[in-house]
Amino acid sequence: VEAQYTHDHLANPVILPVNPYQPGKSSSAIQREFGLQEVVKLASNENAAGPSPLARKALELVLHHIHLYPDDGGEDLKHALARKHGVSSENVILGHGATDILDIIVRAFVCPTDEIISAYPGFPWFQILGQLSGAKNVVVPLRDHRHDLQAMGERITPRTKLILIANPNNPTGTFLKRADIESFLRSVPRHVVVVLDEAYIDYVDGEETRAIKLAQKPVDRLQPVIVVRTFSKISGLAGLRIGYAIAEAGLIRLLEKARQPFNTTMLAHVAAKASLQDLHHIEKSRKIVAQGKIFLYEAFKRLRLDFVPTDANFIYVDFHRDVKPIFHQLMERGFIIRPAQETCARITIGLPRQNAGLVRALKEVLTGRGSYEKQRSHLRGLHPARRGTGSRSGLHLGGEARHR
Ligand SMILES: Cc1ncc(COP(=O)(O)O)c(C=O)c1O
Repeated sequence: VEAQYTHDHLANPVILPVNPYQPGKSSSAIQREFGLQEVVKLASNENAAGPSPLARKALELVLHHIHLYPDDGGEDLKHALARKHGVSSENVILGHGATDILDIIVRAFVCPTDEIISAYPGFPWFQILGQLSGAKNVVVPLRDHRHDLQAMGERITPRTKLILIANPNNPTGTFLKRADIESFLRSVPRHVVVVLDEAYIDYVDGEETRAIKLAQKPVDRLQPVIVVRTFSKISGLAGLRIGYAIAEAGLIRLLEKARQPFNTTMLAHVAAKASLQDLHHIEKSRKIVAQGKIFLYEAFKRLRLDFVPTDANFIYVDFHRDVKPIFHQLMERGFIIRPAQETCARITIGLPRQNAGLVRALKEVLTGRGSYEKQRSHLRGLHPARRGTGSRSGLHLGGEARHR
């Protein structure tokens, strides 16, 4: 048995309680583990449509230059983003993903004596960042699967430095309308920086660019608001790691101080710029999600599963029983979902055939009928799963409760 050495006494004490961020399971690992030919990953909210062909072409051209450092700060992409959002490039900063931008924000603003307010369940990185900063995480439960802005406001103290809001929220997919955010911002004191993480905003009908206006022309000029966006979702560039923030120029200047040199690659710059121009790909990606959502809603209703209607590219489902066995049995059948709170999971909306396959596998798992191989020929005529007991408001209710 290997000796258990620990170097904990050397560590910055703030990192000791941190549980490293758990990404969705990788397809190749599951393929090896279960000897599967194909694995469908519906665990990380990636774009089922893949990257834009224009982005792929741009990448081929830039490959000749990767012996050079990228343009630090990515001026060309920043200009393109500024044009898209009707702001100036002084209002934009790039990061290697929204995760990097959030890290920059925390390092730029948060001291160990500060407090950070975020919601639970939420994007786990928010709380990890809080822990790493040494600040106090103030965690406010969602209400009916949505941010409880009133409760979040009530937790503000003179020490509050940041409020982190994912809109739409991960993992529940719920969306706060601009009017609600505006009235919340009016109630937030000016010593608090409000971050609106809009990783999934492009899936929300008609809300594109709305919060950007709040960042550019705040409720008043002293209201610090930062909008965070990413190319990982609708643009299908998760593997390249590129995201950005938009905010008033004075805030961006502070963030620039905390940014690593060359934090974004030239590959990411050209692919992101090409993706911005590929409106066809964006529309196609949106359509896949819109149609997949309707298909999965209907299937979940037939399976008598409760789910939260979503404004993002994933659906939060409550199985009303321990989700871990369901997660494992789906994995054996080649489908990776993301377990969330005890009985819940977050399922990314995939391509039509992936969604259909997931539903078939789910039927098998929920009815508890043997292995996938045996099941393949028995897919027709299965009875819907028993629905669990209990329901919480905010969920679409499957089964009897739906008809109450
Ligand atoms: C709310 C939220 N913000 C940010 C991210 C990460 O984005 P990126 O890939 O740009 O780091 C995710 C990814 O799942 C997310 O759900």
